[in-house]
Amino acid sequence: MQNQEALTQDTASRYPGNPMQISLTGKTAVVTGGAHGIGRAMARCLASCGANVFVFDIDAPSSLDFPAQHIPCDVTSRNSLNVAFNSSGPPDILLINAGTGIVKPLAETTRDVWDKTISLNLTAAFETLQEGAARMKANKKAGAIVLTASTNSYDGEENLIAYNATKAGVLGLLHTAANELGPYGIRVNAVNPGLIRTRLTQAAFDSEPVIKDYFRAIPMGRGGEPEEVAKAAVFLASDWASYITGATLLVDGGQMCCKFGPWKDNEAEFANSQWRRLTEAN
Ligand SMILES: NC(=O)c1ccc[n+]([C@@H]2O[C@H](COP(=O)([O-])OP(=O)(O)OC[C@H]3O[C@@H](n4cnc5c(N)ncnc54)[C@H](O)[C@@H]3O)[C@@H](O)[C@H]2O)c1
Repeated sequence: MQNQEALTQDTASRYPGNPMQISLTGKTAVVTGGAHGIGRAMARCLASCGANVFVFDIDAPSSLDFPAQHIPCDVTSRNSLNVAFNSSGPPDILLINAGTGIVKPLAETTRDVWDKTISLNLTAAFETLQEGAARMKANKKAGAIVLTASTNSYDGEENLIAYNATKAGVLGLLHTAANELGPYGIRVNAVNPGLIRTRLTQAAFDSEPVIKDYFRAIPMGRGGEPEEVAKAAVFLASDWASYITGATLLVDGGQMCCKFGPWKDNEAEFANSQWRRLTEAN
């Protein structure tokens, strides 16, 4: 108990921006797709908790204003993944996040679009999981893996058939891996973001008519920021989630629990990318 108190105080004083006081000091953390967007926020959040962070990304981050090491890696190549893991060493924490979405109606989803999406979002996630888990098992016999799934793991948003298929498939990876890796002390969970502001979605955020309509169906009345997904993922990767495995955590402002949308024009207004109740707005 004394040790826990000491740890809490130590963490609080060293990481003032870390209200949950999660300490990942001494842990090696790998984030795929950590150069931009949600992955970059995950890398920053892990670093703020004291982890030794490795970003596996095909792109170099524009600037790393937090302690992390970029390892150039194309996660769709098994060889590239192997080389990257050999550089980072066995991870204690692995966030499998690299992904993309190509917007095409069913009729225009070519085999090329399908293959590219499956290759990055599903096959690479599977191979990263397989490589990472093998190293965790061999080395520490413990660890935490978090997959970035999506609200689209569950629903059928139009014009995203390949993307939706991959994100539903990620839940297959999640459930099976949690089942097999539990006996080794390795927890496997997923975050399921809704619409989060990144370069992947910036066009939607830039169009007020689009987001006004979209956010009408979100109880929080707004889109999400990468940091809000990062905090959920880091929680799942930490000992605060020590008895959680095989779980999905929606980070969607309530979108998935909302059938019709709580925001009505006579009770609310939309300004600065957010719905607010009229009584609060005025
Ligand atoms: N933005 C959203 O609204 C949203 C919602 C739900 C789920 N997601 C998921 O979140 C994850 C991150 O998306 P994002 O919105 O931050 O997008 P993003 O484009 O900002 O980030 C994706 C990252 O993956 C990297 N990447 C792409 N191909 C790669 C490869 N072959 N090897 C290594 N790295 C590669 C990119 O360089 C980039 O850093 C994806 O899995 C995406 O499906 C995003």
